[in-house]
Amino acid sequence: MRIIHLNGNYIPENEGKISVFDRGFLFADAVYEVVSVLDGKLVDFNGHVQRLARSLKEIGISGTPGTENWLTICRELVARNNVEEGMIYWQVTRGAPADRDFVFPSRNTPPTVLAFTQSRELVDNPLARRGLHVVTVPDLRWGRADIKTTQLLYASLMKNEAIARGADDAWMERDGWITEGSAQNAHIITREGVLVTHPLNRDILHGITRAAVLPLVAQRIEERPFSVGEAEQAAEAFVSSASGFVMPVVNINGCAIGDGKPGSATIQLRQAYIDCARRTAI
Ligand code: PDD
Repeated sequence: MRIIHLNGNYIPENEGKISVFDRGFLFADAVYEVVSVLDGKLVDFNGHVQRLARSLKEIGISGTPGTENWLTICRELVARNNVEEGMIYWQVTRGAPADRDFVFPSRNTPPTVLAFTQSRELVDNPLARRGLHVVTVPDLRWGRADIKTTQLLYASLMKNEAIARGADDAWMERDGWITEGSAQNAHIITREGVLVTHPLNRDILHGITRAAVLPLVAQRIEERPFSVGEAEQAAEAFVSSASGFVMPVVNINGCAIGDGKPGSATIQLRQAYIDCARRTAI
């Protein structure tokens, strides 16, 4: 049985108890991070801690663990659960007041801090060899996709719709422009050999993997929105995320990308990212 971290305590997963009035439960008033583990070490740790701090600041939650505390929590969980490869999920909610109320609780309501591990093979992933099929769906999320909140209902609905339509995942679009995947940043390589990726603004999550991958790209990079049509005609396409690293996309809305197999630049980039992640993990 897994050992999880809840509010400073390391406990078996079935002993974790959270109030029914916790604002994470009632309002999705919570932010989270997913950090990958390779060789028992934390990948892109500093980026994830910094983004968590930014998300917390944007929604005004304070009094949460600092960088050193998160490092201790993660290392403790990795050790106690013998995680060689997988993920650590962190969540911070605005805490549990005595009753349901739209108004924030007083400052002396402590945030709820949760972390747990998920052991999983990330490098040797069969989907990375096969490549993903995606379908596009309207991006109907709220206007602050740059804050990593636990309001994941729409993303989850769209992923399930994509699967019902015979695909693996959904890419979201606003007015015909791709924003991002259900839980990944989306990128294409055009037939002219240019890597195109959505610019960092409020429409997408500022991916930590995206930030680590872009310096490894051999191609010219254009940070600009790309259309559904441009994506369908791309030479290569891929997504990036902490749990998937760099994952090839081989079909968009039924259109084969390139020859319908993972593109060579994408395969190289996946390997370059994994090598870099192993080298820099702490
Ligand atoms: N998802 N865009 C969205 C909407 C995401 O949910 C994620 C991450 C990303 C990629 O960000 P990063 O490279 O920092 O993981 C982009 C995580 C993995 C999840 O929800 O499980």
